[in-house]
Amino acid sequence: PDGPLVLGIETSCDETGVGLVVGSTLLADALASSVDQHARFGGVVPEVASRAHLEAILPTLDRALSDAGVALSDVDAVAVTSGPGLAGALVVGVSAAKALALGLGVPVYGVNHLAAHVAVDTLEHGPLPEPAVALLVSGGHSSLLRVDDVTAEVEVLGSTLDDAAGEAFDKVARLLGLPFPGGPHVDRAARDGDPAAVRFPRGLTGAGAVARDGTDHRHDFSFSGLKTSVARWVERVRDEGREVPVADVAASFQEAVVDVLSAKAVAACQAEGVEHLLLGGGVSANSRLRALVQERAERAGLVVRVPRPGLCTDNGAMVAALGSMLVAAGREPSAWDLGTDPSLPV
Ligand code: KG4
Ligand code: ZN
Repeated sequence: PDGPLVLGIETSCDETGVGLVVGSTLLADALASSVDQHARFGGVVPEVASRAHLEAILPTLDRALSDAGVALSDVDAVAVTSGPGLAGALVVGVSAAKALALGLGVPVYGVNHLAAHVAVDTLEHGPLPEPAVALLVSGGHSSLLRVDDVTAEVEVLGSTLDDAAGEAFDKVARLLGLPFPGGPHVDRAARDGDPAAVRFPRGLTGAGAVARDGTDHRHDFSFSGLKTSVARWVERVRDEGREVPVADVAASFQEAVVDVLSAKAVAACQAEGVEHLLLGGGVSANSRLRALVQERAERAGLVVRVPRPGLCTDNGAMVAALGSMLVAAGREPSAWDLGTDPSLPV
């Protein structure tokens, strides 16, 4: 493929990702994960993640270069996640990116992790259909976005008021004795369960979408009530000396989450008068979410685009993909004093 070779670096959480992209062609997507080091804590430990990035970043870069069959000196631009994410983890990636760019004499682009989750789909399905609504669901974020131009500005239509969807999956998994990170385990356990076994609450839906003070939460999410409800239910069953039906609880919990996510995503498209729905973030790897969104969107006459599961979770390719779009759009690179912003909005 012809065009600038863009290197993407992702270190916002527990995955060290290095991707190489030309145009919208993916050449390499190397990944190192510190997830095993966090498992016994039941969540990502920031300090542990930072150290792991520091050790993994150059070996992962080496692997990406050799997978792509290119030399470091072939790189024309470096893109890096500058936020949002864990402060110390972000610093490792941004420092490495700036050092590489300075050494190579190429520009560096600080990119927004959430926008990169949206942009990654271009590697699989080509240019984004804009305007679109994006449902972004990960371990740290759950938002509905209006995307008119992902290289310029993305409007937040709504967000979670408390837990992110992935966080809810991880917490419920822990409650059920499933390993961390729990999302994929709940997904798997749910396949043998009855999604109608327990009717768990759907936060901020129906009349509950409007707060007592009149605030409109139509496009917002809330998952902490659901998590508490699952915890109480499980506790009661245990108190009664019965065995917890793990598959049924997993399926019923998952159904509550994906019911809300898919209904609100479709409603947001309709409210915005937009025909295309994009899915991104780790939770969009969920098999039930993918199926239900597809089903409901189709019924509403919408077109859904969702990356393959491996591109939904954090990776370097998504950063390279957005970097490549910024280069193609002629956007200004970042200044050499590029910093990090752990709570960077979209
Ligand atoms: O996007 P991501 O890799 O990292 C963040 O930016 O947070 O998302 C990780 C989250 C975790 O909470 C994980 O449990 C969840 O995505 N996840 C899933 C599935 N695969 C990953 N949740 C439900 N079902 C899945 N199949
Ligand atoms: Zn992410």
